[in-house]
Amino acid sequence: MDKKNIDWTNLGFGYIPTEKRYVSNYKDGAWDEGTMTSDANVVINECAGVLQYAQTIFEGMKAYTTEDGHIVTFRPDLNAKRMVDSAKRLEMPAFPEDRFVEAVKQVVEANAAYVPPYGSGATLYIRPYMFGSNPVIGVKPADEYQFRVFSTPVGPYFKGGAKPITIRVCDFDRAAPHGTGHIKAGLNYAMSLHAIMSAHAEGYDENMYLDAATRTKVEETGGANFIFVTKDNKVVTPKSDTILPSITRRSLIYVAKEYLGLEVEEREVYLDEVKDFAECGLCGTAAVISPVGKVVDHGREICLPSGMEEMGPITKKLYDTLTGIQMGQIEAPEGWICEI
Ligand code: PLP
Ligand code: COI
Repeated sequence: MDKKNIDWTNLGFGYIPTEKRYVSNYKDGAWDEGTMTSDANVVINECAGVLQYAQTIFEGMKAYTTEDGHIVTFRPDLNAKRMVDSAKRLEMPAFPEDRFVEAVKQVVEANAAYVPPYGSGATLYIRPYMFGSNPVIGVKPADEYQFRVFSTPVGPYFKGGAKPITIRVCDFDRAAPHGTGHIKAGLNYAMSLHAIMSAHAEGYDENMYLDAATRTKVEETGGANFIFVTKDNKVVTPKSDTILPSITRRSLIYVAKEYLGLEVEEREVYLDEVKDFAECGLCGTAAVISPVGKVVDHGREICLPSGMEEMGPITKKLYDTLTGIQMGQIEAPEGWICEI
């Protein structure tokens, strides 16, 4: 397989169209058999549910080239399941989990020339998504839906790759109690756009959202969960009903315990505690683990002891072990790696 002539090592996190994508339509209560298409454009009615009432959900995952040259994806079954949870919350039909995994495989296989080579630091980002496609003018769920999967080669989510970033405590809320913070709905991201633009304008890389009810507890950022490390090397990660249940975080909890022998606490984390942690990182498919060097709370600087130059030592071990598993250098737990 000849790879595309792309400057893999200098890729940012952007959209580059690849050759093929998957599409399946839902009509009269059933999904059609689905097909691969070269057409990157979607044509829908002006009154489609997604356009009027934001009825859209998505997933994010990656394909990797392993050290021995295979192409793999990481725990796609968990993305399939999370998409079903998202669909239920937005009154959309579930796309069957086995078909989801099959569609992802087909897309990666068809775009193998775009899967960045081992060691390049880049990956193929895979974006499954679903939206209400027929006209809806009264506020109600659509009757017809489209499920699609496209892929695009990407580099690091944050410029500078593994360099620690600076984030601020955000005055806007991301998710309401009993709202949609725990699902991957487009609406959660639409409402974060103003917050991220204003963070960037003030010189911060990301927002730390607090819980909307009390504004005392750490939730997550716009696109990743938090991992903290205590001064005695315990891994602490926020537990909340209003954050996205990150597959990366769930995997890191297992890696920390089972591969690194670390103690892990999944619990409520108060903003007041952040000053006492030794390390902080953002974890997610796009973010992998991006180290945080500084958190600014309304002018008050909380500088993590790990500093602004490199990842903290435990964060680095977590990063190396997780990416080692994904790239086939370290043996994976049963069922984590899906070979294409
Ligand atoms: N939190 C939010 C809001 C996200 O958008 C993402 C990205 O998918 C994550 C957390 C991380 O989740 P995962 O590790 O499953 O990619
Ligand atoms: C992902 O990590 O897959 C996401 O969807 C996060 C998004 C901010 C790119």
